[in-house]
Amino acid sequence: MQLGVNIDHVATLRQARKIGIPDPIQAAEICERTGCDSIVCHLREDRRHINDSDLINLRRIVKTRLNLEMSCAQEIVEIACKVLPDQATLVPERREEITTEGGLNLVDHQNRIKEVVATLRSCGIRVSLFIDPETTQIEMAQQLGVQSIELHTGKYADCKGEDELKRQLEILKKSAGLGQRLGLKVFAGHGLNYENVKTVAQIQGIEELNIGHSIISRAVFVGLENAVKKMLALIK
Ligand code: PXP
Repeated sequence: MQLGVNIDHVATLRQARKIGIPDPIQAAEICERTGCDSIVCHLREDRRHINDSDLINLRRIVKTRLNLEMSCAQEIVEIACKVLPDQATLVPERREEITTEGGLNLVDHQNRIKEVVATLRSCGIRVSLFIDPETTQIEMAQQLGVQSIELHTGKYADCKGEDELKRQLEILKKSAGLGQRLGLKVFAGHGLNYENVKTVAQIQGIEELNIGHSIISRAVFVGLENAVKKMLALIK
């Protein structure tokens, strides 16, 4: 199982003072040195955490794989095609949301997504779609010509009670299996933490987990290196 560390919230803390620290670039270097498999960041349209120069600097220093989470807004697509991350993960984006709230609806937005996928791929960027673990969405992802999907684990992370937990895990297992059978690489993420990650890490067919908030939160107390080490130990 691979680990992608989302470093957005290092920039969130920086933006609380709008000065240079803490620096997400330094965070990426520490995560890579500690053994993560990719660095994830989200250049939001409102630039609430990661900004354009962070992205350019990340492109310069990331040695593993740079995975840019992004909306389908034309401005962001153009930036992606200039900066050339290794991978782009298309996510839905609403200005007033606290974090990405659900997967992309590939059925409703298929025309625009198809265009963006083609543009990014023509620039040599691998494309992943962040979707809810649902059959229709997974089948549509394959039709849209992407190499991978990221299953939204938010419902699993939020659910209360053993029965509901089992049900959400089953849904993730089935979805990962379907994705794999359709020839897609399957990743997963959102809301994963030190308590709930192990069972998801054991699901056959999921290749990478993308985790941000819980790692950066733990890092406040134990340091980023220790926080990443502990997550790696849980999922590898
Ligand atoms: N994957 C995607 C597509 C996301 O949008 C996010 C949140 O930015 C994450 C993973 C990481 O979620 P969390 O911060 O809850 O670990």
